[in-house]
Amino acid sequence: MKKYFVIGNPINHSLSPKLHNYWLEQNNINAVYEKIKLEENEIKNFIHKIKNQEINGCNVTVPFKKKVIPFLDKLSLEAEQAQSVNTICFHDGDLVGHNTDISGFQKAINSLNYRVKDKKILILGAGGVVPSLIIALNKMEASEITITNRTSKKAEDLKIQFNKINTVSWGKMPDFDMIINATSLGLNNETIDLNTSNIGEGKFFYDVIYNPNETNFLKLGKKLGNQIENGKLMFIYQAFEAFRLWHGVEPSVSEKILKLLDHD
Ligand code: ATR
Repeated sequence: MKKYFVIGNPINHSLSPKLHNYWLEQNNINAVYEKIKLEENEIKNFIHKIKNQEINGCNVTVPFKKKVIPFLDKLSLEAEQAQSVNTICFHDGDLVGHNTDISGFQKAINSLNYRVKDKKILILGAGGVVPSLIIALNKMEASEITITNRTSKKAEDLKIQFNKINTVSWGKMPDFDMIINATSLGLNNETIDLNTSNIGEGKFFYDVIYNPNETNFLKLGKKLGNQIENGKLMFIYQAFEAFRLWHGVEPSVSEKILKLLDHD
């Protein structure tokens, strides 16, 4: 039986096993998917098990998406661009790092029929997922991407990596069409202190967080009369792409899958 894992720390919250095992069963694939908490010094050995085929592949989550890179033989173009790997495959004797967060976000936005083309995007946060968001938004031809982060150095570092983006100091609220919460604020019911006086209606509030279903950030967006969406579809579509890479099959994305991941 083939074996797949998601590695991270913490890992308890991960819903990847639920989703992948459901799809494995649905597609009659003889494999199992588990989560495992690793310490940083255990990554090398773990990844070696993929090279010698004790394990067949893994997903990588916070805080290891960059840390796994030195142990891989090759990176996909997108993983290289983002310097972030969330899926590891074994291909022709090589360990290959992929980034499916990029297409996950893109597919999620497309499935909502929202057009990013020519839109102004404001991203709150500069953590691990943000390079993937920037690459996806560029592919979708956003007209402007602005980053604001509590620690300005991290936003400035992103500007070195992606020179077309703008940065503004934390608390500033430039004009936007779509605002994305990519901070961890909201995971534990925190509120982001946003200056809402100039926001108005007709905007799109997107939260990368999907548990809770509706963060205070999304509640605020709704209250102001805006479209809102959480990160559940992005999570599902990053898994969809990993599943396709490993098994060569496109799994189903249905109402049932959305319900499977409900916690609230
Ligand atoms: P990492 O920064 O290690 O990649 P992450 O979970 O990917 O971790 O990102 C956390 C994001 O949430 C960061 O943008 C972080 O801001 P800092 O770079 O200033 O740490 C942001 N964040 C977390 N707690 C925050 C808070 N209380 N106020 C504002 N931003 C916060």
